[in-house]
Amino acid sequence: MKNILVTGGAGYIGSHIVEKLVSLKKKIIIVDNLSTGYKKLVNKKTKFYKKNILNIGEVKKIIKKHEIDSIIHLAGSLSINIGERYPKRYYRNNVIGTQHLLKACEQSKIKNFLFSSSAAVYKDGLYKVNESSKLKPKSVYGKTKLKAENLIKKRCKEKKINYGILRYFNVVGASPSGKIGLINKGGHLFKNFSAEILKKKPIFKIFGKNYKTPDKTTIRDYIHVYDLAEVHIKVLREISIKNTSIILNCGYGKGISVLSVLNEFKKQLQKNIKISILKRRKGDMEKIIADNKKLLRFIKWKPKFNKLNILVKSSIQWEKKLSRL
Ligand SMILES: NC(=O)c1ccc[n+]([C@@H]2O[C@H](COP(=O)([O-])OP(=O)(O)OC[C@H]3O[C@@H](n4cnc5c(N)ncnc54)[C@H](O)[C@@H]3O)[C@@H](O)[C@H]2O)c1
Repeated sequence: MKNILVTGGAGYIGSHIVEKLVSLKKKIIIVDNLSTGYKKLVNKKTKFYKKNILNIGEVKKIIKKHEIDSIIHLAGSLSINIGERYPKRYYRNNVIGTQHLLKACEQSKIKNFLFSSSAAVYKDGLYKVNESSKLKPKSVYGKTKLKAENLIKKRCKEKKINYGILRYFNVVGASPSGKIGLINKGGHLFKNFSAEILKKKPIFKIFGKNYKTPDKTTIRDYIHVYDLAEVHIKVLREISIKNTSIILNCGYGKGISVLSVLNEFKKQLQKNIKISILKRRKGDMEKIIADNKKLLRFIKWKPKFNKLNILVKSSIQWEKKLSRL
């Protein structure tokens, strides 16, 4: 765990993981094609390559040149909506992209490989899922993530690379440093609400209010991006020390409905906000919460931001800051 390659390190979650790793004095190399990432999220204390992970030759050279021993693979496409419209594009970026990255690891000194998977790989409607729950992705995006997981398991086993597959639930919030946060909209609930509040006449959009949940809106398990970044560092350390591989859910284990999020935003803003109920979006799951017992057994982790009011506050603060940048 000395020289770490972070694919997608110019993106939202990647930049937070990098910020933490840099503070631990790790040598960080970033490969990102800036398709949804931003140059201003690239940490200045890293070596940045604007490259596509599909380019095996280029990535291979980078791995060799910097004697990379660990990879954190976040590069990918993640909008549920866009994935439904462009399945081939999603397959190419998420599945073939991962396959090519794994190819680029051949004949290298890579020992550890962490992958950003998603709760979208699980069957819908199970409510609380553990890592052995039924896998039946509803969306194109979820299908591509599951395919990528399977490729990683197979190749890493063959090449004796320790892997950690991290199934993130819904990631929100921004770094306490105030320097980085979510820029891209892409259908994130917290982002959409935070961006609306800066407008003169904000409207909160709810996609579907006819789900079989107590308040009829979808339920998710939100995790703060900084807590998630810490999970990566701890899991990477553990798989490396124990020479093992693991699949882990990354969430707080708490279900929060869209309506509860909306009410918290309203409470913190003390502003009159119009609500617009729209129809369900294709591919959206009804409810999903992480059973995170396995994660808590594997690492010593005490989340620092696991309260709805903190998550909302963090998102609003970043959005205000972003509007001034
Ligand atoms: N945000 C969430 O709530 C969430 C939940 C579950 C899983 N994930 C996964 O986490 C990862 C990071 O997500 P994010 O929210 O930071 O999104 P993001 O779009 O901010 O980050 C993805 C980064 O990957 C880069 N990228 C995409 N395709 C690439 C390619 N072919 N070559 C090189 N770089 C490429 C983009 O430019 C971007 O910087 C994704 O793999 C996503 O599927 C995110």
